[in-house]
Amino acid sequence: MDNFNYYSPTEFVFGKDRENECGELVRKHGGSNVLIHYGGGSAIRSGLLAAVKNSLDRSGLTYTELGGVQPNPRDTLVYKGIELCKTEGIDFILAVGGGSVIDSSKAIAAGVCYEGDIWDVYCGKAQIQKALPVGTVLTIAASGSEGSSSSVITKEEGMIKRGTHSDHIRPRFSILDPMLTCTLPAYQTACGATDIMAHVFERYFTNTPEVEITDRLCEAVLLTVVKEAPRAIKEPENYDARANIMWAATIAHNDIVGVGRSQDWNSHGIEHELSGLYDIAHGAGLAVVMPAWMQYVYKHNIMRFAQMAVRVFGSEMNFADPEQTALEGIKRFRSFLHEIGMPINFEELGAKKEDIPVLAANMAEKYTTRGFVKLTREDVCKILEIAADAKL
Ligand code: NZQ
Ligand code: ZN
Repeated sequence: MDNFNYYSPTEFVFGKDRENECGELVRKHGGSNVLIHYGGGSAIRSGLLAAVKNSLDRSGLTYTELGGVQPNPRDTLVYKGIELCKTEGIDFILAVGGGSVIDSSKAIAAGVCYEGDIWDVYCGKAQIQKALPVGTVLTIAASGSEGSSSSVITKEEGMIKRGTHSDHIRPRFSILDPMLTCTLPAYQTACGATDIMAHVFERYFTNTPEVEITDRLCEAVLLTVVKEAPRAIKEPENYDARANIMWAATIAHNDIVGVGRSQDWNSHGIEHELSGLYDIAHGAGLAVVMPAWMQYVYKHNIMRFAQMAVRVFGSEMNFADPEQTALEGIKRFRSFLHEIGMPINFEELGAKKEDIPVLAANMAEKYTTRGFVKLTREDVCKILEIAADAKL
């Protein structure tokens, strides 16, 4: 196991009706004048926004609202939010929504404290040195942004999607009420489940030997999603299924399952190009990219893929031919994604094969120097070709 520091100071407030405590939590974490940031309307329709405002009122807090965050959140709304915070003297940002709302909130929080153009921190020209505090009321179990130090934003001009990391933007608190996720359409539940699994696999496929504890934690999260995602899709109001998925999403990405081991992240690097260019759901993009990436790299460590097949997807170990077991695991992963309603190839995703060179060129600029297997631009093209034509 490698040396590590583990820093995850977010206060997680989990359970039914806990959103009614958001006023007290904002106060506890130093806020008095709040920007409530939310998405395209689900939080209004569910009554969550009204509950949040009531809670802030009860705690004697003032607030301004900014809705309209789109999935694959745009820089343009971030700029608007930064200006609004400055004119209103905002000192705390409360994200009410999913990963897109949280990431937009984090960008605004950092942008208010940055003299230049906040896109600088997304394109690697600068690092976040300071940010307003952010709290979240999560409405979809997926991105793990509620406990992560990352934010991913899409530049509207050219639809370029880039991420940044900083402990300054890690949420001070996150309210996780599984009931809030019961209104999710099945497709979004499945996209979320895929993203959770992908966050674990990015960590599971490691070159660090002897990491039994984090291997087993990874497998626990994966097994939970394999069991609970179909249940939540079938019974959207099943609290226990929703609760297990919600906590799985958070621990899949606050790095508790990834410390002390090298990680990959190339599937995410490739996927961000797809969701940026086509404005599609991140989880759906991962469903197409990640099994293709697995098919392309599995020979790098056949036994690790065979381990996944046996421990996560219940395949029988073929000791005479471990490669067969490894391939069986990848097949079962893709079938599982298909069963929960995810696309498995470019056609189902709405992507175009002729865009592969552009996608690979953009990807190569960012990620090809890292990972379980280091990828060249040509490798990325080959992975995308496998993804384009994938079959069950
Ligand atoms: O906008 P509204 O009306 O709220 O609708 C949203 C949106 O259309 C809807 N939704 C959310 N909660 C709902 C609901 N509909 C009904 N009932 C509810 N309770 O779901 C749709 C998707 O929401 P979004 O926030 O985009 O989903 P998700 O949480 O999957 O976030 C995706 C974004 O997070 C980024 C992705 O790239 C993508 O941009 N990621 C962020 C990460 C991070 N910051 O650590 C890591 C991830 O790997 C990922 O890259
Ligand atoms: Zn993700």
